[in-house]
Amino acid sequence: MNSAPSIPQVERKVLVASLILAGAMLALIAYAAIRLGISVPGCVTNVKPFEEGELIQVAPGRYEAHVVAKKWSFIPNLLKVQKGSVVDFYVTSKDIVHGLMIDGTDVNLMALPGVVNYVQARFDKPGKHQIICHEYCGTGHHDMIGTLEVTP
Ligand code: CUA
Repeated sequence: MNSAPSIPQVERKVLVASLILAGAMLALIAYAAIRLGISVPGCVTNVKPFEEGELIQVAPGRYEAHVVAKKWSFIPNLLKVQKGSVVDFYVTSKDIVHGLMIDGTDVNLMALPGVVNYVQARFDKPGKHQIICHEYCGTGHHDMIGTLEVTP
């Protein structure tokens, strides 16, 4: 008599196929991470929190925006950059949790006390973008508005 129950032929095939598929996916993840250098995007930096908000032009067409969020404004309140510029945004908070979103762009960061968050963006079209706090932060939340102006 046969003591070990035999796995039906079809089930065995499905099992093998699923193991091959899982192995292939793990291999692709390893390939992407090791050979292509692709990683999960992160925005938290190890930059030391700054107190001063400022827009620094580091080169023609290159800016660093150090933005401090506080109850209930952004410092600086107006960022003026030239068309075609690349801007590195570093964002922190002086007090509580705020947000920083730039209307019409992909810039969308949390502004957290003690942490500096980062994103890079390019501005090719002249015009004005509203900067808004998208994290409810108290009675003055709706007043937390700034402007990013792209000059021609
Ligand atoms: Cu700051 Cu809402």
